[in-house]
Amino acid sequence: MFDTSRSVLQPIDHPMLKQYGIRLEVKRDDLIHSEVSGNKWRKLKYNIVACHERGLRGVRTYGGAYSNHLLATAAACHEAGLECQGVVRGEELSPMSNATLKRCAELGMELSFIPRGEYRQRTQVVSAPEEDGYWVVPEGGANREGLMGCVEVMQEVSGGRVVVAQGTTTTSCGLYRGLSADQRLTVVPALKGFDSLGEMAELLGGRAECLRAQVEVLGDYHFGGYAKQTPELLSFIRDWNQEYQLPLDPVYTGKAFFALWDRLASYEGEHIVFLHTGGLRAGQIWSE
Ligand SMILES: Cc1ncc(COP(=O)(O)O)c(C=O)c1O
Repeated sequence: MFDTSRSVLQPIDHPMLKQYGIRLEVKRDDLIHSEVSGNKWRKLKYNIVACHERGLRGVRTYGGAYSNHLLATAAACHEAGLECQGVVRGEELSPMSNATLKRCAELGMELSFIPRGEYRQRTQVVSAPEEDGYWVVPEGGANREGLMGCVEVMQEVSGGRVVVAQGTTTTSCGLYRGLSADQRLTVVPALKGFDSLGEMAELLGGRAECLRAQVEVLGDYHFGGYAKQTPELLSFIRDWNQEYQLPLDPVYTGKAFFALWDRLASYEGEHIVFLHTGGLRAGQIWSE
């Protein structure tokens, strides 16, 4: 199940790239798996391995009502033959509340719904990775095993610069770990006012200052905040899907690709790889 061969490098041919002498490829991690898409797959790989190695019965994880991470975990456990528990934020919800939760339940995830206050407490306390026979994966797959899986992306790409969207920073920290000395990483946080380097330094166990030499932060492309959208962003996403068969999502990859495109002139002569971290379901394209 740990096959990444479907994640091709899609070359982009565009007059603006020719103008600046840029070679741009999109690493299509969104194609790895129909339900464990993009960075979800990368983050879950070593969590599944850890669970198997320890002979545990399954995985317990956390998420909101529409969490792609919950769905990905349910699908990965289903395929790996592991039990799976999903703790969901919001006691008013049920497995029938929306398509994501319904599918999680179909895949065998045992769902429990807890009040927001309790959820905050449970997800903030750093719990042991093992709890009563379950391997505990934090929200968004943001743990050491998650990071380890993301390092491997760098074995599948060459290029001087990798561009990626940022949420918990797990993916970008993994990519950072996999960089060679002459490579650069550009991160685009989806959250407004996010301290990208500070958060990365915390996860990597280093100092933010040390990251500056290789990491560029494009912090002004949140479009108003997490999951906020503008007509300009949506029309950008529509155009790239129609003209270049590049299906971007409006929360992460659309904003990151917009940022790259907006700053293109500053990367003259470079070979850039944009990591498509998923966000859409298989065959789905974003539409209003
Ligand atoms: C599609 C997509 N791209 C990027 C990210 C950000 O990744 P990370 O949380 O590892 O920074 C996420 C969140 O997990 C995501 O769902």
